[in-house]
Amino acid sequence: MRFSSVKGLLVVATAMLAVSISAPVAAADGEEEFKALLKKNDCTKCHAIDKGKKGPSYKKVAAKYKGKEAEGEAKMYKNITTGPKVKLEDGTEEEHKIIEAKDDAQIKALIKWILTL
Ligand code: HEC
Repeated sequence: MRFSSVKGLLVVATAMLAVSISAPVAAADGEEEFKALLKKNDCTKCHAIDKGKKGPSYKKVAAKYKGKEAEGEAKMYKNITTGPKVKLEDGTEEEHKIIEAKDDAQIKALIKWILTL
């Protein structure tokens, strides 16, 4: 009786350990989380990863800041948190969308991810 409940506990503990080890691996570099965030914020209306829409592709943005990532991080952060006027592909201007994220850390992680594209 006592032995089997200890064994039961061990099974549960092992299962929990397996979950906690595999979870970060499944999230990989956060790609799915970031894609979902961009979709939720309608960023996908104007940006795609590798083709230009009303705004530049994220790959193009990453290429622009290659070798000057620190400057890129600061500019991109400002661009998506303060809503400056931007010029769309069709020549019209509007205020850039301000991102709604879980917290500041998530915005910064998103920016770092864009820079790796
Ligand atoms: C209405 C269209 C539109 C929407 C919606 C939009 N953007 Fe943009 N975005 C643009 C345009 C246009 C530019 C180019 C601005 C420039 O180069 O001056 C831009 C630029 C950017 C840049 C590059 C900034 C830089 O420093 O070069 C990033 C990053 C970005 N957008 C992210 C986002 C994110 C994240 C969202 C969603 C929260 C979003 N955009 C929603 C049109 C849009």
